[in-house]
Amino acid sequence: MRILAIESSCDESAAAYLDIHKGRIRRLEHVVASQAVHEQYGGVVPEVAAREHSATLPGVLATLGEKVAGSRDGKKLGAKVDVVAVTQGPGLVTSLRVGIDTARSLAAAWEKPLIGVNHMEGHIYSNWLTGGGFADLPETDTSMFPALVLIVSGGHTELMLMKGHGKYRLLGSTRDDAAGETFDKSAKLLGLGYPGGPKLSKLALTGDPAAIAFPRPMLDDPSSEFSFSGLKTAVRHYVASHEQDLSNEIARADVAASVQAAIVDVLVTKTVRAARAQKVKTVFLAGGVAANKALRDALANAIASELPSVRYVQPQLAFCTDNAAMIAMAAYYNALRRKPDAWPTMRVKIGWEIGRAVSLRGLKGRSNPVTI
Ligand code: KG4
Ligand code: ZN
Repeated sequence: MRILAIESSCDESAAAYLDIHKGRIRRLEHVVASQAVHEQYGGVVPEVAAREHSATLPGVLATLGEKVAGSRDGKKLGAKVDVVAVTQGPGLVTSLRVGIDTARSLAAAWEKPLIGVNHMEGHIYSNWLTGGGFADLPETDTSMFPALVLIVSGGHTELMLMKGHGKYRLLGSTRDDAAGETFDKSAKLLGLGYPGGPKLSKLALTGDPAAIAFPRPMLDDPSSEFSFSGLKTAVRHYVASHEQDLSNEIARADVAASVQAAIVDVLVTKTVRAARAQKVKTVFLAGGVAANKALRDALANAIASELPSVRYVQPQLAFCTDNAAMIAMAAYYNALRRKPDAWPTMRVKIGWEIGRAVSLRGLKGRSNPVTI
């Protein structure tokens, strides 16, 4: 199956081409254009992001066409595509719309089926891409299930039980800020700019993670719920009361390392606890924060020492933050199990959640868990 995928849910305009047969990758090409324009605003401005997607996405597709078909001519690329895939949600509505409308037009013009993909499911499937552990396994291989996925991105922090392809049950999520958001906001307080996660983790390299005992919210709570707003507040108070000392690079590095240690500690402890309770065979890491080296190393070490029979898999660095290769891989497993979507009616699914139990209408007073 040859899939062309588009991702535009936030501030990355991305396209990918995946040629996959029986679960084995034959060819993978991808292009990501990050929108630097948001740096000056200290965060993503939705209208600006949508305008940038409109301006950038055609060029991204033409570059992909050059790689795949040796030409920027859209027809040549179309001749090599069987399925068009696109991120349908969750994300910024105006940004998603640009990708969806582009995908609808291509599906109509090329007369190809269209598959809408959940962005978080895309992050999960980054673990099936090159270097992610399950690339090149036949699609019939389900030996990795049941699996636990720690999803950590700019907007989500979730522990998801994955019983099979497309079968999710949300065990817990954050009650307030996401892990990536905590990285970004702490970086902003330290004056590091946007996006703060990679900048904060770089500064942390030279700092002492034990320098400041920041709180580890909900660490001892047995549930799979998270909360990071208290940690963010503690960082704000610390920065406000140590303004003088923080002109010193070493002191700032200590704050960065200590915040990072607090976030990583909570994520790792709760993931290991849930993996043990759910008796999973595999633990996956997914989402932009999966690019964080301290988290990758700490989770790998904790699982190796505390749950030696559990396999730990993390995505290759290039596929942690938003990209379209992961959307293509998720689309492949969608296409194997369901009908395509109709291009004339495809809409944005702005708050699309996977794995949540929803109440079925008509079942008064009872909630019936259904995977959506
Ligand atoms: O998945 P993603 O690219 O976009 C969303 O779907 O949200 O995740 C972006 C988030 C941002 O909060 C960014 O700061 C964080 O991932 N991030 C990192 C690192 N690289 C990206 N956080 C910590 N360390 C990193 N190296
Ligand atoms: Zn993302």
